Amino acid sequence: MIEALDVLGLRPIKILFTTMAAALMATTAFTADPIPADLRAMALATFKALPSTTPAVVNNPITPEKIVLGKALFFDPRVSASGVFSCNSCHNLATGGDDNLETSIGHGWQKGPRNAPTALNAVFNIAQFWDGRAEDLKAQAKGPVQASVEMANTPGQVIATLKSMPQYVEWFSAAFAGDADPVTFDNFAKAIEAFEATLVTPAPFDAFLNGDDAAMTSEQKQGLTLFMEKGC
Ligand code: HEC
Repeated sequence: MIEALDVLGLRPIKILFTTMAAALMATTAFTADPIPADLRAMALATFKALPSTTPAVVNNPITPEKIVLGKALFFDPRVSASGVFSCNSCHNLATGGDDNLETSIGHGWQKGPRNAPTALNAVFNIAQFWDGRAEDLKAQAKGPVQASVEMANTPGQVIATLKSMPQYVEWFSAAFAGDADPVTFDNFAKAIEAFEATLVTPAPFDAFLNGDDAAMTSEQKQGLTLFMEKGC
């Protein structure tokens, strides 16, 4: 019975697949979409190149010292109540600035209600969070630390933890040299904002939008054409 099936069923199917694959390859080779001559103009109707300079962030001049401090804070799980979660847990800079989960996992392994947007290029957003409830990155940075499903900490506890570490006191003093008491929750947020303002990722696509025809390969241009034609 099984042998009969093999002979009668599978063989013909195998042959059919091979023929179909060959036919498919042939069609793909011959019908590769031409690249429209006005591809850049078409793309610019929908996309905008990343600005070549980072906009000045309000009330927070960016300095190398703030960036160093903000980077340390971004990767430090000790700013969460459990000592387990850092900003990078949900905005992993090695995986596109987010956690690649449907919704984030935070304090006590709770599943949060929302998807984590990327922290990359967030400095260019007109507002922060899906509903835009934070005006800018420094206002935003105070949220996750206190959110019960994220880091579940309190500003007082964050500052006490940071003050207990001489290296942080030194970093805060260098970054906010004029302040009588540099280790504050406001300065914590400002330092993180300064670091996040460095997380910009101009790509060949941006160079193409800016007028460099050679920035993208023809395969990439075909992909872009297809992406726009299909309404992605
Ligand atoms: C447990 C996961 C988690 C942690 C930890 C976390 N975030 Fe988020 N983050 C999220 C989620 C989820 C959102 C979207 C929430 C919303 O829109 O209401 C978000 C939103 C943001 C946004 C807004 C981006 C945009 O496009 O609107 C920024 C910026 C950000 N987080 C930075 C941080 C920083 C800085 C820290 C550390 C102080 C941090 N996050 C810690 C999950 C997390």
